Amino acid sequence: MYSSLLLVFVCAAFATMNETKPPMPGAPIDIKDPNNDQEHMNRVWGAVNGELNNQASNNGPYHFVPIKILSAKSQVVAGMKHIYEVLVGESNCKKGEMQATELTQANCKLRDGANRAIYNLSVWERPWDNFTQYTAEKVRTVDAKETF
Ligand SMILES: *[C@@H]1O[C@H](CO)[C@@H](O)[C@H](O)[C@H]1NC(C)=O
Ligand SMILES: *[C@@H]1O[C@H](CO)[C@@H](O)[C@H](O)[C@H]1NC(C)=O
Repeated sequence: MYSSLLLVFVCAAFATMNETKPPMPGAPIDIKDPNNDQEHMNRVWGAVNGELNNQASNNGPYHFVPIKILSAKSQVVAGMKHIYEVLVGESNCKKGEMQATELTQANCKLRDGANRAIYNLSVWERPWDNFTQYTAEKVRTVDAKETF
């Protein structure tokens, strides 16, 4: 009798564990047409506000804004990691006059003659413990004549 009671407890414990267990890690999945998907644009802006314009990533005088997502991938890794390759450029918002966290699509536009660059931005989300982590890594600068 004790052993069957124990079994019930063990089964209940496993059932609970399975429900809360994060999804298994998976291969990155390519996202089609991320520029037309507001959820992905919001994540890219999150990375722009939260990481890209830190002094370590962008030490120029102007805040960068995204111009175009060149590629996007999503991967299950203890939550979901989104990896974006993004063409960015200098905005008309100057550092020192505005915090990076205040940048929005509406208040900061690409400035005339903006220097451009490609950055890899990642957004790692674990919704169940309210966790978001951004990274920004410069891939290369972009020539003024280069088109995308
Ligand atoms: C999640 O984190 C954000 C930013 O730290 C905070 O503003 C918000 O209140 C948190 N939400 C919950 C449900 O904990
Ligand atoms: C940037 O992202 C692209 C696409 O995911 C990848 O092929 C490339 O190796 C990354 N470059 C750097 C410097 O992280």
